[in-house]
Amino acid sequence: MKKMLKKCLAALVLAAPVSVALAAGGGSYPKVDIDLSDQASLQRGAQIFTNYCLSCHSASGMRFNRLRDLGLTEDQIKNNMMFTTDKVGDTMNSAMDPNDAKNWFGAAPPDLTLIARSRGADYLYAYMRGFYKDPTRPTGWNNTVFDKVGMPHPLWEQQGVQAVELDADGQPVWVQDEATGTMVPKLYWESTGLHSRRLPDGNVVQVEYDNYARDLTAYLVYMGEPAQQQRKQIGYIVLMFLLAVLLPLSYFLKKEYWKDVH
Ligand code: HEC
Repeated sequence: MKKMLKKCLAALVLAAPVSVALAAGGGSYPKVDIDLSDQASLQRGAQIFTNYCLSCHSASGMRFNRLRDLGLTEDQIKNNMMFTTDKVGDTMNSAMDPNDAKNWFGAAPPDLTLIARSRGADYLYAYMRGFYKDPTRPTGWNNTVFDKVGMPHPLWEQQGVQAVELDADGQPVWVQDEATGTMVPKLYWESTGLHSRRLPDGNVVQVEYDNYARDLTAYLVYMGEPAQQQRKQIGYIVLMFLLAVLLPLSYFLKKEYWKDVH
């Protein structure tokens, strides 16, 4: 029996890192440094999310008025973030019909409420930075961490456009990605965006866009958490309720039992 228990424990310990790795999207990606206590960063992320993602994706576990928790006023939410509804109590639903989306993109855009939990922050950050132009794809876009992705780059105006370097025969040049170890096409910057700039030597710096993508990632992680916080809150309420009922009850019971002794 004891041996069996030991084996079970060992199996659990061995399986733990595997499940963690799977939860993180399966690969290893450069770490993104997000700070969930940084309200300004989360506000910027919420702004990007509501402006550039909700046209295709829903976040049905999130209500617009919950953005007040991030320090936003109802007017700010109404004026800058709501395009698919006029009720702040509504959940963030996309106006797009999932069937249409499937026809257009080859895959339906997933609900993003809990995407950070299934994919991990590092992956999302790499994904938002990994889009490149690919004329062989129906949308004209591909992604270094999601080959043949159905989603077109929603932030190309911010990031600028990466394109594939071709060899003398017009074939893509492939290289090994330093961070993930997978083979990816060699990319160059075809153009810069609102949040990137080209240096005199031709290199393109992405610091600003990286921050932009980091704020968005932070918001996606945050969105998966309020639900968790709500669950914890309910736990506390239940505990307080039990205490409030059981404490007086046991006190009076004790009094009743000891009545004759004293
Ligand atoms: C034009 C429509 C469209 C817009 C706008 C859009 N997406 Fe998507 N997105 C899609 C589609 C379609 C898929 C499914 C891709 C697939 O499975 O091939 C997808 C998939 C995803 C995924 C899942 C990737 C994975 O690994 O499974 C994430 C994360 C995501 N989108 C984030 C975003 C964010 C963040 C924004 C806003 C900045 C955004 N999307 C804007 C259409 C869109």
